[in-house]
Amino acid sequence: MLSQTAPSLFQPIVDDLAEHGWARQSRFLPDDLTRALADECRERARQGELAPARIGRGAGQQVREGVRGDRIQWLEAGQSAACDRYLRLMEDLREALNQALYLGLADYESHFACYPPGTFYQRHVDRFRDDDRRVVSVLTYLNDDWQAAHGGALRLHLPAANGERTEDIAPLGGSLVVFMSADLPHEVLTSNRERLSLAGWFRRRGDGLL
Ligand code: OGA
Ligand code: MN
Repeated sequence: MLSQTAPSLFQPIVDDLAEHGWARQSRFLPDDLTRALADECRERARQGELAPARIGRGAGQQVREGVRGDRIQWLEAGQSAACDRYLRLMEDLREALNQALYLGLADYESHFACYPPGTFYQRHVDRFRDDDRRVVSVLTYLNDDWQAAHGGALRLHLPAANGERTEDIAPLGGSLVVFMSADLPHEVLTSNRERLSLAGWFRRRGDGLL
C-alpha cells in the first residue's frame, strides 16, 4: 500500500532514475531519523556488532581490506524504532518505483556500513556475477558536517560521449543516492574520517542463479 510519505519526495528520484539510471536527493531522511540511525550505527560499532565486510558470495566470500575496508551489519525488521522507520520509508520507495517503472522489485536488503579513517571501497558493480536479483542500489548517508577535506566521496563512473565521466558525491547526512545495480560502476574514495551509511538493494524475485 502506498504510502504515508509525500509522493513529491519520490517523484524526482523516479524521474531521474528512469532518465539517467541514477538519482540523488540531498534532503531525503528527516533530521531526527538521520541522527537516530547514526547513533545506532555508532552504538552497534561500539558493541562490536559490525564485522569486516566481505567480497564475493557464498563459500567464496573473503575479507580483503585492499578492496573494501568498511565494517557492516545487516538490518532486520523489529530491531529498533529508527531502523523500522527507515525500512518503512524504503518500502514506500520500492512501491513508488514499481508503480512508475514496473521494475518488479520484490524485497529490500540493507546493512549499516562504517568506514574507519583511511578506508575505501574500490571500483565495482553491485550485481553479482552469479545472482542477478539486485536491481536498484540505495545509499543513505548519516554523517554530520562532512567537509571536502574528509574525502570519502562516492564516485560514480557514468557513461559519456567520450567514454566515461565521473561524478563525486559527498556522503552528507540525510542524503540519498540510487542507481541501477547492474549498470553503474562506482567506488568509495578514501575517507579521512569515520564515514557512516546505510547501503541497500531492491531485489526482484528469482532463484538467484543465472
Ligand atoms: C556498497 C557501496 C557506496 C557508498 O556498499 O556496495 O558501493 O557510498 N557503497 O557507501
Ligand atoms: Mn556498491
